[in-house]
Amino acid sequence: MARLCEGRVAIVTGAARGVGREHALGLARHGARVVVNDLGGAVDGTGTDKSPAQQVVEEIKAMGGEAVVNGDDVSSWNGAKNMIDQAVETFGTLDVVVNNAGILRDRMLVNMTEDEWDSVIQVHLKGTFAPSRHAAAYWRQKSKDTGEKVNARIINTSSTSGLYGNVGQTNYGAAKAGIAAFTIIAARELGRIGVTVNSISPTAYTRMTDTLREYTEEDIERRDPRWVSPTIVYLSSAEANDITGRVIQAGNGRVAVCEGWRRGAEIDQIEDAEAIGPLIREMISNVRKNSGMDGLELD
Ligand SMILES: NC(=O)c1ccc[n+]([C@@H]2O[C@H](COP(=O)([O-])OP(=O)(O)OC[C@H]3O[C@@H](n4cnc5c(N)ncnc54)[C@H](O)[C@@H]3O)[C@@H](O)[C@H]2O)c1
Repeated sequence: MARLCEGRVAIVTGAARGVGREHALGLARHGARVVVNDLGGAVDGTGTDKSPAQQVVEEIKAMGGEAVVNGDDVSSWNGAKNMIDQAVETFGTLDVVVNNAGILRDRMLVNMTEDEWDSVIQVHLKGTFAPSRHAAAYWRQKSKDTGEKVNARIINTSSTSGLYGNVGQTNYGAAKAGIAAFTIIAARELGRIGVTVNSISPTAYTRMTDTLREYTEEDIERRDPRWVSPTIVYLSSAEANDITGRVIQAGNGRVAVCEGWRRGAEIDQIEDAEAIGPLIREMISNVRKNSGMDGLELD
C-alpha cells in the first residue's frame, strides 16, 4: 500500500471517537505523525475526559506510528493556539489541520434556547476558525522565512444539514453552512502561500447519529466511518495540492463533489412588485426542471 502522508504532521480535532478517530488512524497508517485532539465531552459538549483520545494515541503507537494527545477546546482562541504550537514543538512542523470536532444540541427553532444556539455555533464555527487562523499564521511565517510556498492543508467538516437543510438543526445547519462558506473563502485567501482548504460532509454511524433513526446491519456497515476517511487521507497528502475550495460528501455508499450556491435562473430587474411574484415562481419551476436534482436522495 502506498503511504500517502509519509512524514507529514497532522492535527485531527475531535479525534477520540467516531469519524475523527478513523481520520487519525487512517492518517497514521499512511505515515503521518498525528496530534489527537479531543475535549472528551458528551454529544452535547458537556464534560471533559482525556482518556478516549489517549486510547487513540495508544492504538497509533501500537501500529508503529507516532501520536500525541491534546486536550484543548478547539473553540478557545488560546486553546487552539496551544494545539498548533504543540504540533510544531513535538514534531517540528505542521502540514495538515483536520477540523472535525463537533457537538449537537437539536431543537425546533421555536423552542431553541440562547445557550443551545451559542454553544453549537461556538464549537463548530469558532472551532473551525480558531485552529485555521493560528495554523495559517504559522504557515504564512514559514513561507516568508523559506521564500517558498508551504504544501499544507486545512480540511473542515460540513454536513448535509448545512448543505441541504435538516429540521430541528437551525443552529447546527447554520454552523455547517458557515463552514462550507468559510472553506471557499479561506481557500481563495491561502492558495498563494500553498495551503489548500477543503471540507468534507460525512455520513457515518457514530454516537452522534445512532439515536436519530433505526439502522439495519447493512445501514451501519455503509455508514462505517472507515468509508469517510480515505477522502481525508488523500486530501491531506502532498500530491493533493490542486484540489481546493471544495466540499466533498463521503460515506453511506458514495463520494460526491457538492456544488455550492449559484444563480439558477435570472430575469432583468423590474419595479412592479405584483408582476415579480409569477416570474419568481416560473424561475423556481425552471430551476427544478433543469437541475435534474428532483427526487435525488441528498443525505
Ligand atoms: N456522523 C455523521 O453522520 C455526521 C454527519 C455530518 C457531519 N458530521 C460531523 O462530523 C464530525 C464528527 O462527528 P462524529 O459523528 O464523529 O461525532 P462524535 O460525537 O463521535 O465525535 C465528535 C468528537 O468531537 C469532540 N469535541 C466536541 N467538542 C469539542 C471541542 N470543543 N474541542 C475538542 N473536541 C471536541 C467530542 O469529544 C467527540 O469525541 C462533527 O463535526 C459532526 O458534526 C457527522
